[in-house]
Amino acid sequence: MLSVQDLSIRFRTPDGYVHAVNDVSFDIAAGQKLAIVGESGSGKSQIALSILGLLAKNAETRGRILFENQNLLDMPTSRINKVRSKEISIIFQDPMSSLNPYMTVERQLNEVLELHEGLRGRAARARVLEALDAVQIPDAKNRLKSYPHEFSGGMRQRIVIAMALLCRPKLILADEPTTALDVTVQAQIMRLLDDIQKEYGSSIMLITHDLGVVAGFCEETLVLYGGRVMERAETRAIFNAPSHPYTRGLLRAVPNIHAQDARLQSIPGQPPNQLHPPEGCPFADRCSDSRDPCFNNLPPLDAGRHQRACLRPVEELS
Ligand SMILES: Nc1ncnc2c1ncn2[C@@H]1O[C@H](COP(=O)(O)OP(=O)(O)OP(=O)(O)O)[C@@H](O)[C@H]1O
Ligand SMILES: [Mg+2]
Repeated sequence: MLSVQDLSIRFRTPDGYVHAVNDVSFDIAAGQKLAIVGESGSGKSQIALSILGLLAKNAETRGRILFENQNLLDMPTSRINKVRSKEISIIFQDPMSSLNPYMTVERQLNEVLELHEGLRGRAARARVLEALDAVQIPDAKNRLKSYPHEFSGGMRQRIVIAMALLCRPKLILADEPTTALDVTVQAQIMRLLDDIQKEYGSSIMLITHDLGVVAGFCEETLVLYGGRVMERAETRAIFNAPSHPYTRGLLRAVPNIHAQDARLQSIPGQPPNQLHPPEGCPFADRCSDSRDPCFNNLPPLDAGRHQRACLRPVEELS
């Protein structure tokens, strides 16, 4: 359904170009859940924004983003506005930034329906209630006239998810949907997304910096570093047989209640400067397995089901 092909995004700045996303390719099939994982600044959000034509003005893109065989990257704004919400919707990290504090929940949800489906009155109300029900807002009927601040953080994120569901989109981009919430609410929201995906059959692209959130949720995981794909495989394989030093580092930083030695390890060093991306592997200078060639040669991404971009053989990794 969605095919991102050799996507590169760079931003023009007074200091030069910031190379935020570099030659990223992936597909999402109908009903599939894909996770995009990476540290802060690795380019995750820009990928999502580019899909919806929401990149900042100083952005330049290359490559193609095919959604049902149409390239979203060269679609005129008027057409892309039709795709937004109706076909593809996005859930942001901070619910307050998606909700207008001065409008009742009902009005905000109605606005989406009116704009995209021309629905008003009774028909709109029924759809709004259905969406609020789907995200388990208790007593939704009597909460329609409430303002966002009258809900808890978890409830607000449910409302944002309801908004994303209103037009029954084929693809939901969830950009760190649970980062602003506490752990128990996080689990509820992830379960909710899972239920919704099953019921509506939507595809989900889940963006997160937290590998723990991905386990058991997405079939496939793509690991991003410095705007490049480092590894991409079935989530199970990413956890059981990570083959890239960066993925291994990320996994060592995830708490595991079964681990004997409960100490978490961080990856020393800083992410690459995207203004002057390194010539070789972007992870080389933080990688304990790197060798000279890693600094001068960009590792290609293998083909196949379990893909990795690393010059070192898996057997030789520490
Ligand atoms: N308008 C812009 N001009 C210049 N650089 C930008 C602009 N927008 C984003 N960037 C840069 O693009 C890079 C990727 O940003 P992005 O928002 O995709 O990161 P992210 O992986 O979503 O991080 P986080 O986990 O913090 O949300 C960052 O280095 C960021 O500073
Ligand atoms: Mg982000």
